[in-house]
Amino acid sequence: MKILVLNGPNLNMLGIREPEIYGKTTYNDLVDLIKDYCSKKNIEVECKQSNSEGTLVDYIQQAYFDKVDGIIINPGAYTHTSVALLDALKAVQIKTVEVHISKVDEREAFRQISYVSYFASERIIGKGLNGYLEAIDYLEAKV
Ligand code: DQA
Repeated sequence: MKILVLNGPNLNMLGIREPEIYGKTTYNDLVDLIKDYCSKKNIEVECKQSNSEGTLVDYIQQAYFDKVDGIIINPGAYTHTSVALLDALKAVQIKTVEVHISKVDEREAFRQISYVSYFASERIIGKGLNGYLEAIDYLEAKV
């Protein structure tokens, strides 16, 4: 089984950005956490991050040609704005879990909209970095 973990804008700033909301763990620590977890489960994983919407679209399209079995995506702020990310996910038809570190459902009104949720099979919200591991478990069970 092969999964892609995709993080959107400002998630490379984990540990630095608003630690009271996103915690003190860095993006590199998150990648290590995911890789360790997947290696124990014999899951092949690739972690990618971009601040650019178009690059994220390219990564989703590439997942189709790489025959990825599942996508875990935290689109960051593009969650709330990007029809392009939704369309890319619909194009590749790869089972997708949407993850948010913070409790987006309890924050500002503009964070209540998620375009990728129209395609995602599961949403994991407000569980911190553990949400990514829960998403791996979900894909392991469902794919
Ligand atoms: C986020 C929530 C988004 O609203 C925000 O723009 C982010 C991170 C989260 O993981 O909680 O960048 O997706």
